[in-house]
Order: sequence, then C-alpha cells, then structure tokens
Amino acid sequence: MIDVVFTGAQVRPTDTAVVIDVLRATSTIGMALASGYERVLVAGGLEQAQELRGAGRVLAGERRCERPEGFDLGNSPEETLSPRGPELVLATTNGAPAILGAGAVAGEVYAASLLNLAAMLEQLASCDGDILLVCAGTDGSPTIEDVYLAGRLSAGLEGERTDAAHIAQAVAAAYPKALDALEASVGGRNLVRVGLDADITFCAQESIITTVPRLTGTLGDVAVVSAGAQELSPTHNLKSMKIG
Ligand code: MLT
Repeated sequence: MIDVVFTGAQVRPTDTAVVIDVLRATSTIGMALASGYERVLVAGGLEQAQELRGAGRVLAGERRCERPEGFDLGNSPEETLSPRGPELVLATTNGAPAILGAGAVAGEVYAASLLNLAAMLEQLASCDGDILLVCAGTDGSPTIEDVYLAGRLSAGLEGERTDAAHIAQAVAAAYPKALDALEASVGGRNLVRVGLDADITFCAQESIITTVPRLTGTLGDVAVVSAGAQELSPTHNLKSMKIG
C-alpha cells in the first residue's frame, strides 16, 4: 500500500518511510551526499548539533530559514557542493525531526527530494511492503511543496494507494511545473522573506542526482544518513540501531 501523511508528526510504523522536505532539508541531504559528504548526522536540535562539533564535521542548519549563529553553513543545498569535511551535521526545524520520527518507527527510511526523484522512484520500485510518504510540512501544518513531491512519487509507483495518496497526486497534477508548486508554498514564501529565492529554483530541479539517502544507523539519538547500504537489519529502527 502507498500512503501519505501530510506532516511529520503523523508518521506511523511502516515498512518503508520516505521523508520529504523539499524546502530544504531533504534536498540539502541529497545534495551533500551527492557532492561527496560521506554521512549526514541529523540532529534533533541546534544544541545537539553544537555538541557534535568535532574534527571533520561541518555544522549546517537553520532557524527561521537562516544560518544559526556559530554554524558553518545554512540549509541551502548549494552550500554543500564543495564538501568541507567527511560529515555534515544538520539541524533543521521540520525536516530533521521528521527523519528522526520516521527512524523511530519505520523499517527503512529514505530522504527524497525533486533533485533525486528518478533515483528515488527506482529504489522504491524494488521495496517490499508498505510505503509511507512522510511530508515534513512546516511548523505542524501541511505544505504544498512536500505534498506535491509525495504526489509525484505516488503517481510513479505501482500498487494500491490510499485516499491520502490520491489527494497528493491531485495536488501534484494541479501544478504544471515543480517550480510553480514550490513558489506557491509557505516554505517558498518563507525563503523569499529572507532573500533565499535562489534556493527555490535550485530545489525545483528534477533528477539531477542519483543519490538515494538512507538512514543507515545512529549515534546515540542522532540519525546517520548515507548513500550506502543499511548496516543492520531493516527490522531495526532508530531506537535500536547503532553504528561504529
Ligand atoms: C526545515 O527543516 O524546517 C526546513 O528545511 C526549513 C528550511 O530551511 O527551509
């Protein structure tokens, strides 16, 4: 069954969870791994990210869309194009908690964006069991850009789907181009407000990378996302997985 939840808080146990935060956390994660970062450490908050600071680690994130004080990077995917170390530590408002929430209940967790749309569809076509498309949303509310991508993914997959998946597909079909959906969304308007319009255009690009970010382990309660194979059984979740 293919299902969609419209906010990160609605995540529930499933075989495969696909977390979607088009603007911008899952776009940044995909771009960082495609650019050469070996891992993205997804932190639960800014303080936790600061505690993870160490050799080879680059701190990235946002609060109200802007780079937090003391962080190396903001949350713009383009900022990750030239890796400054092997590990990106990422703390964001909605996308990071959605990944952590999915990691606690799902067998496998992926991070999807328009940037890796074709590769993500290929990966999901080979997944057994139920697929839950988890829109991160913004501050507890659904956002058009995440529902748009959930609809595009749902439309590209074989199998039965729930009404929520049909709703997402209807939203996707309402926009002639991805950029239209991103510009219409609250996520897009928030970026325009702080002068980060360029990120909207960047994140609207489709299938420019083939990297499929996957939750591959944990460091304490931090989620480790990489492009590699899962290091432990897919039946393990964030509560039980450990790496290193
Ligand atoms: C988030 O996780 O809330 C978003 O990625 C916000 C953003 O940086 O645009």
